[in-house]
Amino acid sequence: MTVDLKRMAAEKAVDDFVKDGMIVGLGTGSTAYYAIKRVGELVSNGYKLKCVATSVQTEKIARECGIDIVELDDIDHIDVTIDGADEVDPNMQLIKGLGGALLREKIVASVSRQEIIIADDSKLVETLGTKGPLPVEVLKFGYKKTKIALEKQRCTAVLRMKDGKIFITDGGNYIYDCKFDRIDNPFFLESRINVIPGVIDNGLFLNMTTAVVISSPDGKVRMM
Ligand code: A5P
Repeated sequence: MTVDLKRMAAEKAVDDFVKDGMIVGLGTGSTAYYAIKRVGELVSNGYKLKCVATSVQTEKIARECGIDIVELDDIDHIDVTIDGADEVDPNMQLIKGLGGALLREKIVASVSRQEIIIADDSKLVETLGTKGPLPVEVLKFGYKKTKIALEKQRCTAVLRMKDGKIFITDGGNYIYDCKFDRIDNPFFLESRINVIPGVIDNGLFLNMTTAVVISSPDGKVRMM
């Protein structure tokens, strides 16, 4: 069921927002996967698209679909980016990064004319931080000191592991998954976290989203 929900939101977003000739940002994760597949179908049908990948994993999937991948610095803008999210609040503020690609995703989002988020309705929350952790990407150097500074923000910071080893991002950094009870003021929290010297960026995506395409188990797909 979940797979179908992800696919429904992803395909609707691509069909509504991607036009021939555009430069498209491709997100990362299990929902974005279906958007990449759909973009691949458009390319097979003759659309001329240039795409920017938000992760090594996405670039690989996209190339397998025959999509032309360009470097972010070789283009001057992105028309539309389609990406997933971990939490979406009623004001379209987000937590992203459980897939580990938050830094590239945020850079791509920041130069996108439209940032379209695709999600099933299990990702909707009244208040950010109430479902899952906030991922924070940190430099390896001094990462244990960075944890102490993060936890001064009243969270529990857990170093992300994968297959028994420390998870390393595409940028060569570590991630702390920071569990808060709730994030009542995400703008203030972001400003506190990002001034910690070892922090590279965090998974709060604030005032970046143009629209959210949400699927629900009743088979409906709606737009925020
Ligand atoms: C990747 O780093 C994340 O920001 C994903 O966009 C987010 O975790 C959503 O992933 P799923 O679509 O797999 O839930």
